[in-house]
Amino acid sequence: MIPILRTVAEMRALARVWRKAGQTVGVVPTMGALHDGHLSLARRARRECDRVVTTIFVNPKQFNNPEDLKKYPRTEAADAALLATVPVDAIFAPGPEEVYPEGFITTVSMAGVAQPLEGHMRPGHFDGVATVVTKLFGMTLADRGYFGQKDWQQLQVVLRLVRDLNMAVEVVGCETIRETDGLAMSSRNVRLTPEGRTKAPVLYAAISAAAKDIRAGQSDRMAIREAAETMRAAGFERVEYIELRDAETLMPSDDPARPRRMLAAAWLDGVRLIDNIPV
Ligand code: PAJ
Repeated sequence: MIPILRTVAEMRALARVWRKAGQTVGVVPTMGALHDGHLSLARRARRECDRVVTTIFVNPKQFNNPEDLKKYPRTEAADAALLATVPVDAIFAPGPEEVYPEGFITTVSMAGVAQPLEGHMRPGHFDGVATVVTKLFGMTLADRGYFGQKDWQQLQVVLRLVRDLNMAVEVVGCETIRETDGLAMSSRNVRLTPEGRTKAPVLYAAISAAAKDIRAGQSDRMAIREAAETMRAAGFERVEYIELRDAETLMPSDDPARPRRMLAAAWLDGVRLIDNIPV
């Protein structure tokens, strides 16, 4: 059985023992409801670090929709069983009152890369992420933090956070793990109806086709419009955005010398799906 730690004091004490023995600590922050995408981060941390901690905390501060927070799947026993297959050295799963005790008033707030796209659609979301990631790194004495490219903008936010606040943490971005039909794995996928599940891969297919057309010389705007139309025709209720952006700053970019990323968010079956790919 993998130890499940509930308090910051226990987590710190264990991390201190590891650090004192000269061992590196790899941390994989998650909100639980683990799938193969999360496990791929843990497996990579296992290969690269002496000790691995997976944190499981459904962070209320990054949910701007209380309904979404309430509906977020909580499957700790199954998560622990999956993490035993990696295996990780410890699971850190504190409650909300441990992370945000009475009197808590500090927020890590970010401009720039945290503002467009997800930041625009979900006000306060990235401040919640930046705050909790700062705290989790501090609680676990992390040497390395592992994050998925699935949440590309979040990865850029965390990279910026670590640079701006001089944190002694190396941030490692890991590839998006997909189902065999291309759908990016996500804890929210289980909320799709069986019919929605058959349509969901169209998101990845549509942005992949657009990226290919752009590389072949088609105009960005035309390719993106076609992708949105394909998705609506397939049954997506709403395409929130499909954007071609500078891969690091997430600002509009037509400088082909810099890496660019296509990012999309859309609703299907009342479920919000996001994905992104290099262009
Ligand atoms: P969560 O959505 O649980 O995701 C935890 C980590 O798993 C993130 O770094 C995310 O990018 C990565 N991940 C999710 N699906 C993936 C996939 N299909 N392939 C590869 N990686 C994937 O992201 C969060 O939690 C939270 O915002 C958190 C960073 C824990 C802060 O609360």
